[in-house]
Amino acid sequence: MKGIVLAGGSGTRLYPMTRASNKQLLPVYNKPMVYYPLTTLMLSGCREILLIVNPQDIESYHRLFGDGRQWGLDISYALQAKAGGIGEAFLIGRTFIGTSRVGLILGDNLFYGDSLRAMVERGAAGSNATIYAYYVSDPTAYGVVEFDAQDRPISIVEKPKQPRSNWAVTGLYFYSADVCEVAQATPRSARGELEISDINAHYLKAGRLDVERLGRGYAWLDTGTPSSLLRAAQFVETVEDRQGLQIGSPEEVAWRMGYIDNAGLARLIEPIATSEYGKYLQRLLAMA
Ligand code: TTP
Repeated sequence: MKGIVLAGGSGTRLYPMTRASNKQLLPVYNKPMVYYPLTTLMLSGCREILLIVNPQDIESYHRLFGDGRQWGLDISYALQAKAGGIGEAFLIGRTFIGTSRVGLILGDNLFYGDSLRAMVERGAAGSNATIYAYYVSDPTAYGVVEFDAQDRPISIVEKPKQPRSNWAVTGLYFYSADVCEVAQATPRSARGELEISDINAHYLKAGRLDVERLGRGYAWLDTGTPSSLLRAAQFVETVEDRQGLQIGSPEEVAWRMGYIDNAGLARLIEPIATSEYGKYLQRLLAMA
């Protein structure tokens, strides 16, 4: 099982915040945005991860993650020269994917919910393509899935003006290795992008698409506009402050998943021991 975090894009809706910084490096409350999707992928059991970034940002991502060894991961990097669509992940990542099943997560998507780990583990273990749908009040900015009376998916339409349901396709997907060939054979859309909705529609037509619906107990937030970014930060702050538990900490997830041991966590804490974040990790270790 391999994983890709797609963290390129142009972030035009967040301008001027994205003038000098890549969107996914901006903070969501107390962590870089990209920590949240990365930890979601880690929860699925994925340890070999490709980060796709813009050429001008690779140094920053390298400073943030290195080779991932500190978290028990193997992180490598690939460049996307310009935002040509989410489906390009499977052209850029073709060699990395090889013959493995692969998870893809968008660098600006935040998932939260009690059974998240079990849900993403199912996606990782499946043999069909697995995507996740979430009920939203306004689905027009997303791919939208329509279901029949037996709850089977029957269509996926990208950014429909007249949506046939409220079920938006979220930015987390699992595929078998043949997704690379599917992506290669998928024509570009009118806006010149390799659309993930077209790839998903291919699997739907072939009867090889599972759509898991995230119920009301989940939060799925994206962070592409100033107000959605603020709302995501407020959500994280509210939950973390109430519970005293952090959302989206790679150190914590690595430790809980057994990717690093107590000594490994202690080593990570040492240089950051005076920060709130370091103190939080210290408390975890003390309770172990
Ligand atoms: P979007 O929010 O659709 O696009 P964007 O990040 O370029 O922002 P804007 O619309 O404001 O210009 O992208 C969704 C996610 O996918 C985001 O995490 C960036 C990533 N992405 C890429 O890495 N490469 C791409 O070609 C596209 C389209 C998106």
